[in-house]
Amino acid sequence: MELAPADRAAVLALWRKLGTNVGIYTTEALERIFVAFPSSKTYFLHLNLSPGSAQVRAHGQKVAEALSLAMNHLDDLPHTLSALRELHTHRLRVDPVFFKQLCHCLLVTLARHYPGDFSPNMHASLVKFLNHVISALAPSSGQIGRVDAEGSCV
Ligand code: HEM
Repeated sequence: MELAPADRAAVLALWRKLGTNVGIYTTEALERIFVAFPSSKTYFLHLNLSPGSAQVRAHGQKVAEALSLAMNHLDDLPHTLSALRELHTHRLRVDPVFFKQLCHCLLVTLARHYPGDFSPNMHASLVKFLNHVISALAPSSGQIGRVDAEGSCV
């Protein structure tokens, strides 16, 4: 299912604005999930999760690169993210609820840093983009709300 042209234009424009800072925000999203939803930490017991950790920053950078890759392949997310789906679903066995929590933390982070850009419409476009990413990475129960036949979040 494709993102509507208006949603696509909105998220691409915001991503261009984030530029090389995407990793800063994905790192903040990880720091937030570890505090706001502490059970998420069980997947990262092998990393130093203390505030300012270089390991969390390095992981945040990997997540950022995956999201930027997704942003550049909006028409083919299942294929683009298939190796990550395999990793998260079969090897790491990440409970889908954590995808929803991480995306929530990323939305909070972006709203905090880009309040002027974060209109309700931008919020909705980002939710749709992140739901597309989640559905390529995880079983559907991880989505932020359900997605209807037109790709809208309901
Ligand atoms: C938007 C959602 C997500 C994206 C784009 C994403 C992306 C990635 C990427 C790119 C990697 C590195 C893969 C590699 O090194 O080959 C990774 C690894 C990993 N992810 Fe995710 N991830 C997401 C959500 C999650 C969630 C929700 C969890 C669990 C709460 C999680 C747990 C892990 C773990 C444990 C690793 C391995 C870390 C390590 O050993 O260094 N991921 N993820």
